Amino acid sequence: MRAVLTAGPTLEPIDPVRFLSNRSSGRQGYALAEALAALGFEVTLVSGPTALNDPPGIAIVRVETAREMLAAVEDALPADVFIAVAAVAAWRPAEPSAIKLKLDKSGHGALKLAENPDILKTIAALAPQVRPRLVIGFAAETHDVLDHARAKRMRKGCDWIIANDVSGSAMGGADNAVTLITPQGEESLGQAPKTEIARQIAQRIVAVLTA
Ligand code: CTP
Repeated sequence: MRAVLTAGPTLEPIDPVRFLSNRSSGRQGYALAEALAALGFEVTLVSGPTALNDPPGIAIVRVETAREMLAAVEDALPADVFIAVAAVAAWRPAEPSAIKLKLDKSGHGALKLAENPDILKTIAALAPQVRPRLVIGFAAETHDVLDHARAKRMRKGCDWIIANDVSGSAMGGADNAVTLITPQGEESLGQAPKTEIARQIAQRIVAVLTA
């Protein structure tokens, strides 16, 4: 079986020396890619910039922006499962400058932003003959975690959403605590290293795809 995942942050250039990004380390996505590979999946990992080494036995495609990430995911399909773990920047500077901007200290002349494509929503909306059988998103939330995550599952059109409380040190840290929200119900996995969370999610993915 084939799995395609996104992981890490995206990086959206403002000018040659500045960018918009976020605190994602890529750890949960890389751990999930490795857990799926260990279960025999052929895995393509589309990764934003991270400090992590290329995991062995996995095809890794390194990108920077959300638009590059979407194109790389589309190139990597078809797959049985698509998992969007990346923390994609929702916005990018509309007109990145080719030369270093001289910022107005008054704060005026602010950055104009353009909306990035929603990779998860795009893949979830593919026609049935090309859509991966299982499309999974993550919901990184700091408050009302489960309510936001349930709403996000509906909004994105994905099959499962994995709710992730990032009010503590989960973003960038080694541990995580998640709740799987699926059409069949909800299941919380207690606080554990991201590698262990990944192993448990991967087992549930195999169970569903082989049912
Ligand atoms: N996602 C994506 N492409 C985007 C934005 C998000 O693929 N442009 C995916 C993420 O990889 C994740 C899920 O959508 O699986 C939810 O991401 P999150 O950042 O929590 O949600 P947002 O869509 O940014 O919504 P909000 O800012 O309202 O929380």
